[in-house]
Amino acid sequence: MNPALTKFGTEMSNLTGVRAIMKDIIETLRAGGGQEFINLSAGNPVILPEVEQLWRDCTAELLASQEYGEVVCRYGSSQGYQPLIEAIVKDFNQRYGLNLSDRNVLITPGSQSIYFYAANAFGGYDKQGNLKQVVLPLSPEYTGYGGVSLTPESVIAYKPTLEVDEAAHRFKYRPDFSQLKLTTNTGCVIFSRPCNPTGNVLTDEEVQKIADLAAPDDIPVLIDSAYAPPFPALNFTEMTPSFGGNLLHCMSLSKAGLPGERIGVAIGDPKLVGILESFQTNLCIHSPRYGQAIAARAIASGALADIAENVIRPHYQQKFKVLEDTLDQFMSKDLPWFLHRGEGAIFAWLWLKDLPITDWEFYQQLKQVGIIVVPGSSFFPGLREDWPHKAECIRISLTASDEEIAIGMQRLAGVAEQVYRQAALPVGG
Ligand SMILES: Cc1ncc(COP(=O)(O)O)c(C=O)c1O
Repeated sequence: MNPALTKFGTEMSNLTGVRAIMKDIIETLRAGGGQEFINLSAGNPVILPEVEQLWRDCTAELLASQEYGEVVCRYGSSQGYQPLIEAIVKDFNQRYGLNLSDRNVLITPGSQSIYFYAANAFGGYDKQGNLKQVVLPLSPEYTGYGGVSLTPESVIAYKPTLEVDEAAHRFKYRPDFSQLKLTTNTGCVIFSRPCNPTGNVLTDEEVQKIADLAAPDDIPVLIDSAYAPPFPALNFTEMTPSFGGNLLHCMSLSKAGLPGERIGVAIGDPKLVGILESFQTNLCIHSPRYGQAIAARAIASGALADIAENVIRPHYQQKFKVLEDTLDQFMSKDLPWFLHRGEGAIFAWLWLKDLPITDWEFYQQLKQVGIIVVPGSSFFPGLREDWPHKAECIRISLTASDEEIAIGMQRLAGVAEQVYRQAALPVGG
């Protein structure tokens, strides 16, 4: 069977970015060849016992309640399950001193869908044929943004500036405000905070600056808060979630232990929420209600915010510490390696400056010593210009055990040493 595909069909049947690499990783793990791999590529969160127990308890409560039939045996409103919307409104109003009503909230099947709705409702060709851009103000960024637009040419990313601490072997990306332009040709802006893959957290001031640049043209700014407080609270540095005006605060319950249930939440101006809601009605009517009903319980009781702060955050923060301590101990001080500041999320991002081989070749060499990471070049969606940096980074997942992370980083240090030294050998020497 070889059906003819439309332009959109061709676009959407392609795997973008990291999903294409994942295919190679799955095949490597499957083939095995007797080799045990330490997998530091996973984006799937760890199943933490306390988190699983919370969802088990909420499920048991739901099953025993009168509500069960209403939840699973009926269609509901496109906007979402009312008790979940009410729980979020109450929690956010109390926590952040807001004045939200239920008209400010939309529940979606996972947060990825919010970016898909927005990228195509605000980005792409308008009625006059002008291309409205989906702007990613800071690159590298979440690889999933590479696949959200039906008109991929609309997604454009900006190169960052780099703040480098040579002595400490650390660095941090900052948005380059001298370059960033938001105009009437901008459809919407999206960024992750904390960021997948780098663990970067844009400061409150940087967020405000982006919001201010977008405000005069009513450009929606989507803040992808998949790792932000209050849940899953995977920020290791202070940050305040931002709301109001043209901002859409977008959450996900995936890293709070519910990736299988697909729950995303958009909070913002009722006009923006309404546009995304209509998109959703046309696409899938509404998000499944079972996950929404257990989430409503976990949020209303305060248990989810509590577990996020006291279990989920410390778990990953400790993994980052093991990773950075091991790199500091085993990576040669003379090599130009730089670890991105670990400000949040469930990944570490390592920059190997002037790496003599590509990130893809480095990934292959790590496989030879039983380590799987993700080559960094998949994390620059929308950044079309040549920039050697794009092939000098890798993403390391913090979902493995302490021991696996420590062994993995020791072996990585050995491979890095060998790769740089070999390139430094005189030709024929
Ligand atoms: C930054 C970021 N945004 C969005 C998503 C998608 O999350 P969801 O499961 O809510 O669709 C992910 C998933 O890993 C992510 O890392």
